[in-house]
Amino acid sequence: MKQTPLLDKLLRLQEENLTSFHVPGHKNGKIFNKINYKNFKEVLPNIDTTEIIGTDYLHNPKEVIKKAQDRAREVFKSEATFFLVNGSTSGIYSMIMAATSPGDKIIVARNCHQSVINATILGDLTPIYLYPEVDVYRGMALGVLPGEVKKRLLEHPDAKAVVITYPTYDGFASDLKEIAKIVHQHEKVLLVDEAHGAHLGLSEKLPMTALECGADAVVQSTHKTLPAFTQSSMLHIQGNRVDVEKLKFMLKLHQSSSPSYLLMASLDLAVTIYEDRGRQLMQELLEHIENFKNKVKKMGQVTFLEDVVMGKDSIKAIDSTKLWISMQQNKINGHYLEKELRNQYNIQMELSNRYGILGITSIANDEEDFQKLYDALKGISKQEGEETLQKFPFFSYVLPKQIFTPKEALYKEKKQVPLEKSKGYVSGEYLIPYPPGIPILVPGEVIEEEVILHARSMVKNGMKVLGLKDHQWKTIEVLV
Ligand SMILES: Cc1ncc(COP(=O)(O)O)c(C=O)c1O
Repeated sequence: MKQTPLLDKLLRLQEENLTSFHVPGHKNGKIFNKINYKNFKEVLPNIDTTEIIGTDYLHNPKEVIKKAQDRAREVFKSEATFFLVNGSTSGIYSMIMAATSPGDKIIVARNCHQSVINATILGDLTPIYLYPEVDVYRGMALGVLPGEVKKRLLEHPDAKAVVITYPTYDGFASDLKEIAKIVHQHEKVLLVDEAHGAHLGLSEKLPMTALECGADAVVQSTHKTLPAFTQSSMLHIQGNRVDVEKLKFMLKLHQSSSPSYLLMASLDLAVTIYEDRGRQLMQELLEHIENFKNKVKKMGQVTFLEDVVMGKDSIKAIDSTKLWISMQQNKINGHYLEKELRNQYNIQMELSNRYGILGITSIANDEEDFQKLYDALKGISKQEGEETLQKFPFFSYVLPKQIFTPKEALYKEKKQVPLEKSKGYVSGEYLIPYPPGIPILVPGEVIEEEVILHARSMVKNGMKVLGLKDHQWKTIEVLV
């Protein structure tokens, strides 16, 4: 047999039987056993088909795909729902370009996924940034204050729409209801990236859904927190502020003409699971999480992020299915903790930063998963690290001066300069510390000293900085 390096690796990983606190939300297929839908896994190759008689067509659905989308519309309480097979990225491009025209301004919360800024390149838009409240000590974006949204709208009355990430990757929910009210008072469109919140409608104990808050268009990564396959997402519309015919064109533009039936079928099944079993499974999940947290708190050396950020002005609610765990009390760095859990205890978390680790839980996780995580943390809590957060410089997220839009910068002539000598140049590249994934520099912005120092310190401390072509992070591309 010829070598199949990727497949071999995936099969080996499957044999390791990792405990999953990461996406996708089906948790290595566990949900299908849990809901007695084991045969779904067996029929996958058979249902990988294309547009033939009886299978309908995603870009002009009239039969089964239409029925499935209509059912999703009812279950998620939208007025129109579209299945996405190219991830939330394709939905974000489409909703932004449906709500704007080339040359428009769009107000964008800076703690956005890169796809939002990339949409401004595709749609030839000028992004006007809105900064979230930041916890400089832990290097994390919190929520966006409604007052900041209002301020930006008053400064830029010609902006067409506002884009908010709700909840954030870390589970922080801004006061979206109030934001929606303000945006609509100014007769603008509210577009919400709810990539991390597809599950919010499953319990009153979770933050309200973006649609309940009044958003006009919402993109959800059904694959992240619900049990759909990776890349399967949904776009929901309510009201008439978004032109649905224009949106349909944009969806065609940004998605494959051979949409995967496996992905669409997994969305269809995720809707059924959500409707039939979702609330009960979510109730069980929240109970497991509460028991887990109570036990861990008794251990003493572990901090949950929500306990330290609760009460911050910009945070209206926290999604408790996100587990942010820190062992800073033992001076244990988050990156080390993530590796230790994987290498010694077979537990895979979603991500880590210098402060701690993030686990994404879903209705597929069971009590045994939480017991394993508890046992592992107990084992690791006997260790003593040697790292404190004081080692890292604080960062104020200075608002960089925008000279060109990202699109204008993309097409300008560029040269490489050493990072430490780049002060004052206009950047030709992104600088995105990951996590939290908030760009500290976007193409077209002036490079400030603070940004350079921050980027260098992060690289020195082993953190990931995305965006630079030079993977050694020694040089940066600037406009000539
Ligand atoms: C906040 C946010 N929005 C959008 C996306 C893009 O989603 P997808 O990977 O489904 O394209 C991500 C991906 O991680 C994300 O974190």
